[in-house]
Amino acid sequence: PKRIPHIFTDVLIIGGGIAGSRAALEIDPRLETIIVNKGKVSQSNSAYAQGGIAGVLDPLDNITNHIQDTLAAGKNLCDEALVEFVCREAPRHIQELVELGADFDTEDGKIALTKEGGHSHRRVAHALGDATGKELMRALVLAVQSRPSIQTWTKTPTIDLVTENGKCRGAVIWNRYHGKSLIWAKQVILATGGAGCLFRETTNPPLATGDGHALAFRAGALLQDMEFMQFHPTVLYIAGGARYLISEAVRGEGAYLRDCNGVRFMSDYHPDLELAHRDIVSRAITARMLETSHSCVYLDLTHLEKSLVKERFPNISKVCASFGLDLSKDQIPVRPGAHYMIGGVKTDLQAQTSVPNLWAAGEVTSTGLHGSNRLASNSLLEGLIFGAAAGRGASQAALNQPDQYSASLLPDWDVEKRSDEDLNSKDLRNSLASLMWRDVGITRSANTLKNAKDKVDFWNRYVVDREFKTLNGWELQNMLLVSQLMITSAIERRESRGVHYRSDYPETDRAFQKHISVISTR
Ligand code: SIN
Repeated sequence: PKRIPHIFTDVLIIGGGIAGSRAALEIDPRLETIIVNKGKVSQSNSAYAQGGIAGVLDPLDNITNHIQDTLAAGKNLCDEALVEFVCREAPRHIQELVELGADFDTEDGKIALTKEGGHSHRRVAHALGDATGKELMRALVLAVQSRPSIQTWTKTPTIDLVTENGKCRGAVIWNRYHGKSLIWAKQVILATGGAGCLFRETTNPPLATGDGHALAFRAGALLQDMEFMQFHPTVLYIAGGARYLISEAVRGEGAYLRDCNGVRFMSDYHPDLELAHRDIVSRAITARMLETSHSCVYLDLTHLEKSLVKERFPNISKVCASFGLDLSKDQIPVRPGAHYMIGGVKTDLQAQTSVPNLWAAGEVTSTGLHGSNRLASNSLLEGLIFGAAAGRGASQAALNQPDQYSASLLPDWDVEKRSDEDLNSKDLRNSLASLMWRDVGITRSANTLKNAKDKVDFWNRYVVDREFKTLNGWELQNMLLVSQLMITSAIERRESRGVHYRSDYPETDRAFQKHISVISTR
């Protein structure tokens, strides 16, 4: 076989969003670190985050409330000890971001706080009004860039993790400077983010294709809760426009949801109205769209103070204005879209996966924080806390590890594979996203899931194990695998819980108060 170039580092971090960047800052500067990023930081879910980051900062609130709200959303599937750990750590980690230079919005000299669905108190810190992720990433990236021991390679997709005797040894990457190369690393941190692009309607950037979930599965890691994809209730729905998130903070500040007849309908579904948990609001919207035979519902901000809307939601106002919508007079057409992948690589309190030398943090993981439904704005927090834990753990392990690269290791990534010349991967990607939206979306059943499984299994038969010439092809291969894991887990969970709703099993069943795990048998 043709050999590929070898590159050596102490720690390899795959993904440069909030979890990857925070991890990098924990690595001892005596160690060499490479962050590989599939695209640019600005194209990550972290940078797209609008609403904010949750943490108890208000004296009227307390940690117990934050814990209770997180557990209530998760519907008996959260890891309670871990939830408590995260809620206690939150204020410290937010303060640390301030020290790094993150410019949170303030009120009377203190961090301003908003409310989102499922929160009993105002505890969501935000920045740039409605562009929190952009500001946090600005501060984190500057801190990372100031460390000479850390290199960041952008436009560098990871094709596969490399394992030897069950231990992670590095990864095969591709970029235009090095071509396809093997990076040997003593420790690897997976921080690749989410998988919203599995679905036709999504708030996620085009790069969120579940790569890390697929890489970890192929490397033999244990994954869990793959059936839990959270749908955000309010995504801008305008022909010709991007599916732009309209932050839950808009409802937190008092916006109403109305159907096409102008009726404020959430009182028919839940006493918490527009601020009920996301799964409830998403299903209510879908039901209302069906009842009214209309392709969307509307967010109404016209009763809110004009200056508040401009100041709190400058970017949302700007995007809406670009489509001729004046939020003091016009309502915003919205409907749900795939938003946050709750399931993922199982990790512990130290961010360790089941594969030695492999750590993981952020949306790619399943830590047990979210249970079956993530509380809004708990995810930037999770990325920060477990990013730091992964960085700490990987750093300590790498410091104690001798260089031991096995020249004899000749894995099958060196072997020539079938080409992709006969495959229109863009066409297949669109078909997959439409199928997943229709059959594995907000409402599922045994019939829709079986149909999805048959199709995805068939597509996978001729896509798997190819050598792709385009990023789109590599992504497609990952998307098919992650779809399979999501569908089989959704078939197995014969109940409804949190974000997983089965029309044939609409009730929550105590027999399923457990995680559904997947691991490769290959
Ligand atoms: C939002 O701004 O609505 C998103 C917040 C989140 O998903 O945590």
